[in-house]
Amino acid sequence: MSNIVVVGTQWGDEGKGKVVDLLTAKSDMVVRFQGGNNAGHTLVVEGRQFIFHLIPSGILYPDKKCLIGNGVVVDPEVLLEEMAKLEDARIDVTPHRLSLSEKAHLIMPYHRELDHAREARKGKAMIGTTGRGIGPCYEDKAARTGVRAVDLTEPDVFEEKVKANLEEKNFLLTRFLNAKALEAGPIVDAYLKMAERLKPYITDVSLELDRAVKAGRRILFEGAQGTHLDVDHGTYPFVTSSNPVAGSACAGVGIGPNQLTHVLGIVKAYTTRVGAGPFATELLDATGDYIQEKGHEFGATTGRRRRCGWLDLVVVKDSARLNGLGSIAITKLDVLAGLETIKLCVGYQVQGEAVEQRPASVRKMALCQPVYREMAGWREDISGVRRLDQLPSEARAYLNAIEEISGVPISIVSVGPAREATIVVKDVF
Ligand code: GDP
Ligand code: IMO
Ligand code: MG
Repeated sequence: MSNIVVVGTQWGDEGKGKVVDLLTAKSDMVVRFQGGNNAGHTLVVEGRQFIFHLIPSGILYPDKKCLIGNGVVVDPEVLLEEMAKLEDARIDVTPHRLSLSEKAHLIMPYHRELDHAREARKGKAMIGTTGRGIGPCYEDKAARTGVRAVDLTEPDVFEEKVKANLEEKNFLLTRFLNAKALEAGPIVDAYLKMAERLKPYITDVSLELDRAVKAGRRILFEGAQGTHLDVDHGTYPFVTSSNPVAGSACAGVGIGPNQLTHVLGIVKAYTTRVGAGPFATELLDATGDYIQEKGHEFGATTGRRRRCGWLDLVVVKDSARLNGLGSIAITKLDVLAGLETIKLCVGYQVQGEAVEQRPASVRKMALCQPVYREMAGWREDISGVRRLDQLPSEARAYLNAIEEISGVPISIVSVGPAREATIVVKDVF
C-alpha cells in the first residue's frame, strides 16, 4: 500500500502541481480533496506549460485516473473550460479518466457575487480572496443549503434549491451589500445545460477509491492552498475556507485514515503569499523584488504579484506537526542562486521576548519580528543539477539547516519548473 498526501506547508503556490505531476508516474490515481478553482497548479511538461485549477495534476499521463472528491467546491463552468482546453491539447478527459464526486458542492453565480461584494464592503480590511466564490460556497455547505453535483441529475430538485437560495442571497446582495439581484431562470438553464455534459463524470468517488485501494492501486492526494491558509490552523481570518491540512484528505474523498501511508510537505525555498495577512519574513526591498522577478512570482489564478520573503521555519515546523509530515520536497532552490547571503527564520521575537510558535492572534502575529540565521549564498546556476552532491556546498548547507531545524527529512529537491528538473533524494513510495 502506498497512498501519499501532498500538501503545501506555507501560504500556497509551493509547487504542489509540479511535484504531484512528478509522483504521478508511480501512482495509479490522483485525487483532489479540498479547495476549488482558487487553486492554480502549474506543470511544465516537454516544454509546454499547463495550469490546472480543478482537474488533478495527474491528467497529463494517459493511463492514470483523476478524481475530484466531495471536499472540493466545483464551479462547473470552470471545470468544463478546463476539460475543453485539455481536449484541444489532445489529452483524453473522458469519464474513464476523470470522476467528479456526486457529493461535491457546486459554486453558483451568487457565490461569486457575494465573494466580490463582501470584499468590496470590507475595503482596506479585505482578505484579498481570489473572487471565485469559494468562501460563500463552503458557507452554504455548512449551512446545509448548498447545491451538490448530484442535484444536477435531478432538475426539479436543483431548480427548487436555486430558487430558495436566491431569496436569501438576493436580500443580502441588494439590501446589505449594494449589489445587484440575480434571477433564477438563467442560472437554472445554464447549469442544467452544463449538467448534460457533466453527468457521465458524476459518481461515488469514495466507492471508486475503496475498490482501487482493495485492488492494491496507489493513490496520490493532491492538496490545494497551504497549511497556513487552513481555516482552522492558518492565519485566521486571512485564510481560505477549507482545510488544506493532510487530515482533511480522508473526509474530502471518503476514505479512512488507515489508508494513508505518507504525507509529503511541499516547502518553497523562500516564502510567498498572495492576498492580505501577516507575513513575518516579508521583504519589502530589493531582495524581495529580486526573488519575485527571478521566481516569476505571479499568481497562477489571479495574476497578482506574490509577496516574497525569506523562508520561515516557524511556519514549516508548525506544518510538520499539523500535517504529520513524513518528508518534505524543497522547491525553487534554483531561484536563490546569485544572492550573497540567505536568511532562514528560526524563531520570532515579540516585544523582546522569544517566541517559538506562531501566535493565534493576528495582532500578536503582526508584532512578530523574525530571528534569522544567516547563511552564505551561492553564485552558480543549479537548474541543471540532478544529484545532491553536485550542488554547491552552500546550497547543501542550506538544505541541511532546513532538515535540522524542521526535523523532517528532505525527499525531493526541485531546481526548475520542468518535470526533469528534480533531484530525488529518497523514494517516498
Ligand atoms: P502550486 O499552486 O503549489 O502548484 O504552485 P504554483 O504552480 O501556483 O506556483 C509554483 C510556480 O513555480 C509555477 O510557476 C511552477 O512552474 C514553478 N516551479 C515549480 N517548481 C519550481 C522550481 O523548482 N524552480 C522554478 N524556478 N520554478 C518552479
Ligand atoms: P494553490 O493551490 C495561494 C489565498 C487568496 C486569499 C485567501 C482566501 O495554487 O496553492 P479564497 O479565494 O480561497 O477565499 O482566498 O487564500 N489563496 C491562495 N493563495 N495559492 C492558492 O492556491 C490559494 N488559494 C487561495 O489569495 O489570500
Ligand atoms: Mg498555485
